[in-house]
Amino acid sequence: MTANKPGDPTTLNRLYGRSVGKPLRAGKQELVDNLLPQIAVPEEGEVTAEGLFGFDRPLHFEIGFGGGEHLAHRADLLPDHGFIGAEPFLNGVASALTHIKEGGLANVRLHHGNALDVLARVPDGALTMVYLLHPDPWPKARHAKRRMMNPGPLDMIAAKLKLGGEFRFGTDHPVYLRHALMVMRGYCGEGGPFDWLCDGPADFLTRPGGWPETRYEAKARKKGHEVWYFRYRRR
Ligand SMILES: C[S@@+](CC[C@H](N)C(=O)[O-])C[C@H]1O[C@@H](n2cnc3c(N)ncnc32)[C@H](O)[C@@H]1O
Repeated sequence: MTANKPGDPTTLNRLYGRSVGKPLRAGKQELVDNLLPQIAVPEEGEVTAEGLFGFDRPLHFEIGFGGGEHLAHRADLLPDHGFIGAEPFLNGVASALTHIKEGGLANVRLHHGNALDVLARVPDGALTMVYLLHPDPWPKARHAKRRMMNPGPLDMIAAKLKLGGEFRFGTDHPVYLRHALMVMRGYCGEGGPFDWLCDGPADFLTRPGGWPETRYEAKARKKGHEVWYFRYRRR
């Protein structure tokens, strides 16, 4: 596996896409000002379950949690596990904070910014699960390097997962689907770090249990898009 080197374009050190949307309402701004600092991943140093939650526990990481519905659902389902979510879009962070507050979720930590900056600080083999749901598709060929499903981020995800840990990826974008299938062939082949948990089409056409629908996915389905679900086990 290649190391994640600063400056390597495939590591997505640069952030693409929007980070600010509509101005926040007062209630959400209040959560950003007061709750976020209490549950933010520290800006420096190793990122461990002990450091974040006070004791060791299975650690999950969601890259680009959007509005945080999936992150909050998983954290509620697994209260003894720790969850780290990273998202550069402030309105998404504010919405996740609302879910965290309403759900009384004490097992979530957030990073407002590039997920890969935080993932890089997680010790190798420390994660139980990594989620990448509907990453920005960057459908034009000239932007393909910006996709998360590329060697830089994927090598890092593989390195941070423990053996037997799981990487979940979902997309509704046909270009991204083809790109991901092509890239993951190299990661699931002989000597690669992952097994694709798939016995047949039902496994990638049906949303697995414990994988809630996000707002993004609901909108995609409303537009008539198919959605594909992938689970890879670290070996
Ligand atoms: C299409 S949205 C999907 C959101 C969410 N995962 C869902 O399924 O509803 C893609 C998200 O990835 C986020 N994103 C893009 N680049 C990112 C990065 N480097 N680190 C973390 N999140 C990122 C975007 O801000 C956006 O919210």
